[in-house]
Parts: sequence; structure tokens; C-alpha cells
Amino acid sequence: MIKIKVPASTANIGSGFDCAGIAVSLYNYAEMEIAEGCHISSADGSDIPTGEDNLIYVSAKKVFEKSGVLFTGLKITEENNIPFARGLGSSSACIIAGVFGANELLGRPFTRDELLDIAAEIEGHPDNVSPALLGGFTVNAMDGQKVRYVKTEIPEKLVFAAFVPPFELKTADARAVMPKEVSLSDAVLNLSGSALMAASFISGKYENLRRSCCDRLHQPYRLPLIPGGEEIIEKSYENGAAAAYISGAGSTMMAIFDCDKTKAEEIAKNILSDEIFTGWKYFILNADNSGAAAL
Ligand code: HSE
Repeated sequence: MIKIKVPASTANIGSGFDCAGIAVSLYNYAEMEIAEGCHISSADGSDIPTGEDNLIYVSAKKVFEKSGVLFTGLKITEENNIPFARGLGSSSACIIAGVFGANELLGRPFTRDELLDIAAEIEGHPDNVSPALLGGFTVNAMDGQKVRYVKTEIPEKLVFAAFVPPFELKTADARAVMPKEVSLSDAVLNLSGSALMAASFISGKYENLRRSCCDRLHQPYRLPLIPGGEEIIEKSYENGAAAAYISGAGSTMMAIFDCDKTKAEEIAKNILSDEIFTGWKYFILNADNSGAAAL
């Protein structure tokens, strides 16, 4: 039996739609062992699919098939701490638990980079699976079936305040509201912002992040689906945030502060004290620079 730990991830970071993400210090765990048939349970009482459509199971099975080893089934016990359908990479964490766990059970026939390609194929885009597997900030581009990426570590002094609303937002619904075509000026605004973002995380020039969060591809269309989202962005910047944006496809709003955790927590509590945020909660996190691990 093996136990796998996978971090949550915050993708897009404004302009980096479908290509940028950071792993953060909130974790799912999965115990896995080879079995006859499908045996899936939750250690924390969360309502999870327990059939062969379970995402950890599907992802693990794919790695067995690619390795050429006969797949007989798995026993999986999940502990889910990453909220579902909230833009914190819960699906990607399941995919990574499956591919990483299966690779461990098989004696590591695949490299991490090969696992990333398999995970991106399952997810359809690399921006959450890449940091969940590798840790840190990653910027990614698909090259056919292969993920080309650069990873950089994020220092502890950057604090991530995740503002989690009491409602889910399914990625499919958040993608459905986006335009199918964009103007050249909107494309340029985003590509310049995402290039600036990557260079700024790599060089530590965090004062550029506010500009790199400017985006005209997805956030203007998604914010109406997140009542209170715009207010979180405004109030985060009023309180000195370096960046504030919709985490992934939402519904979580993320703010990055260059300050100590106690101060960031005070700011988050204060922002959510307004009655329009009834039912919201916050997590105060750091980046996770290690990614998925076997414990
Ligand atoms: N880049 C994705 C999106 C993240 O914004 O739709 C969620 O899977």
C-alpha cells in the first residue's frame, strides 16, 4: 500500500489562461493498493464517486495500460481537503494522485515529465496538473501531446489568501460563458500580461503582478457568475495585494500578498466580515514547491 499527497493549485493567475499555475499548501491524500476490482472509499466522509468513473481510478488505470501491465483493479482511500468545483484544482489533484500513485505501484516506469503529458491529456489543459505534479509556479505550453514547461520556486514571503464562496462553479459552465473569438487588442493585452507574469515570478519582480492579472479572455465573463468576486479584487488591492484574480475557473477568488501570514489573515478576515460574504471562508496558504509526493 502507498500513500500519495497532492497539493491544490491556483491556475490562470489573471492573464495566463490555460497555461499558468501555482501549487499551494492545501492537500489531498490517497492510499492506493493493487486489488481485484474497484474498491473506493472516503476517509473524510466526502461524497465521492466510488465506481470505475472515479477520477483517481480512471487516471491510474490509464498509466497501467500505457505501461503494458495488466490492470486488475485498485483499492483507493481518499482524503479530500481541497474543496470541490471551487477553482483550486480538485480534479487535477485526483488525476495526479492517480497517475503518480500508479507509477509508484508499478516501480516508476515513467518519468515525471511523462506523467505530466499523461495528466494533461486526461485534463485537457496543463495549468493545474503541472503545478500539482511539479510544485511551484509553472508556465506551460502544449507541443502536440507534450507539455513544454518552466517551473520556478515561489518564496515563503508570498502568501496566498484563498476566498472560497459557499457555491460551486463547474469548469464547463465557466468555460461556456467565454467568447469563441477575441479581438487582436484583447489577445495582445493577455499575451503581454502572461509573458510579464512568467518573467516576474522567475525574477521576483512581484510589483508587475497586478498588471499581469489584467485579462480580457475569461475574468470579465466569469465575474458575473461569482457575486462578490469583484469586491474581493478591489478590497484586496486596497489592502496592498500584489495580485488578485479568479482562481482557475472559480468560484474561489485568490489574492497574493507580499507580507507575513498573520497580517494576510487579518486582511482576509476583515474583507469577509462584510455581510455580502456570508458563508464564504478563507485559507491562508503558501506556495508548495515540491508537488506530488509518496509519503
Ligand atoms: N484554465 C482552466 C479554466 C482552469 O480557466 O477553465 C480550470 O480547469
